[in-house]
Amino acid sequence: MKSLSMRRRHPLAAFVVLALALAFAGMLFAALVSPAASADSGETAAQQIADGKGLYTSSCSSCHAPNAAGSDLGPSLIGVGGAAVDFQVSTGRMPAKQPGAQIQAKQNQAQQNIFTQQQIDDMAAYIQSLGGGPNVPAASDYAQNDSLIALGGVLFRNTCSQCHSVNGIGGALTDGKYAPALTGTSPKAIYEAMLTGPQNMPVFGDSNLSPKDKQAIVSYLVEARAAPNYGGAGLGRLGPVSEGLFIWTIGLILLLLFAVWIAAHTTKASAERVAKAAAEKAGK
Ligand code: HEC
Ligand code: HEC
Repeated sequence: MKSLSMRRRHPLAAFVVLALALAFAGMLFAALVSPAASADSGETAAQQIADGKGLYTSSCSSCHAPNAAGSDLGPSLIGVGGAAVDFQVSTGRMPAKQPGAQIQAKQNQAQQNIFTQQQIDDMAAYIQSLGGGPNVPAASDYAQNDSLIALGGVLFRNTCSQCHSVNGIGGALTDGKYAPALTGTSPKAIYEAMLTGPQNMPVFGDSNLSPKDKQAIVSYLVEARAAPNYGGAGLGRLGPVSEGLFIWTIGLILLLLFAVWIAAHTTKASAERVAKAAAEKAGK
C-alpha cells in the first residue's frame, strides 16, 4: 500500500490509470454490444430480403406475379437464383418495358441505373430466398486471370462461338432473336449469363463448364477486347468471310479498272500510230 501511494505522484501514473480505464471501458462495451451486433447482422439479411420483396412487389410483380410464380406476361422466378436477377437487372433487361421477341439490354449507362446495386442485391436476395438457384458470383470467381486466357479462347470457340461468333460480336438467331455482342458486357454479367442461360442461351452449369473454365472464358473475352488488329484494318475481325468479300468487291473492281485502263491506252496508242502513218503517206 505504501509503495502504491508513493508512486501515486509518479509522472506516468495518470497515463497508467487512463489506459486501465480505457481497457476496462472497451471490454465492458464489447461484452454489452456483441450479442446485439450479431443479432443485428442476422437482421440485415432478413431486412435485405424484406427490402427486396418490397422492390419486387412494386416493380416486377405485375409481370412475374406477386408470389413470383409467373404469369402470362413473365416467367416464374422461383429457382432462377440471385445471379439471374443481378444479370437481368444490371444489364437493363429487367424491368421489361414491353413484350417482344427478345427483351433487349439497355444501350447506354444512364438507362441501366434504374436501380442501385444495393437494390439489385436486395431483389437478388429475395428471389434467392424463394427457391435457391445459382447465386451471384463472388468477385474472385470472375477475376481476370492471364494464365487462363488461352484455355478460355479454346472453350469460347467450342461452346459459344456458334451463336456469338468467333470474335464475340454476336449474331442472328431464328425468330427475330439474336445473340448479342459480348464486347461491352461486364465480367460479372458474362459469368452470370453462363450460370443462368438467359432466354435462348443454354445454361452452362458447373458440371458442363467448371468454375475455372468460366473464369477462363471471362478472361479470354476481356483480353480479346484489347487485342490490336495486326496488319491494318480489322474488317470486323470476321476472318476469311470479310477478307474474301473485300477482295471480291474492292479488289476485283480495282483489277477491272486497271484492265480498262490498259485497253484504253492500247487502243489510243494504236489509233495514234495509224493516224501518224496515214499522215505520212498523205505527205509523200
Ligand atoms: C413487362 C413485364 C416484366 C416486368 C415488369 C419484369 N419482367 Fe422479368 N421477365 C419478363 C419476361 C417476358 C421475361 C422473359 C425474358 C425473355 O425471354 O427474353 C422475364 C425474365 C426475367 C428473368 C429471367 C428468368 C430466367 O428464367 O432466367 C428474371 C431474373 C427477371 N425477369 C427478373 C425481373 C425483375 C427482378 C423485375 C423487376 C425489377 C422484372 N423481371 C420485371 C417480363 C417482365
Ligand atoms: C444457342 C446459342 C448460344 C450459345 C451457345 C451461347 N449463347 Fe450467350 N446468349 C445467347 C442469346 C440468345 C443471348 C441473349 C439473351 C437475352 O437477351 O435474354 C445471349 C446472351 C449472352 C450474354 C449477355 C450479353 C449482354 O451484353 O447482355 C453473355 C455475356 C453471353 N451470352 C455469353 C455466352 C458465353 C460465354 C457462352 C459460351 C459459354 C454463350 N454465351 C453461349 C445465345 C447463346
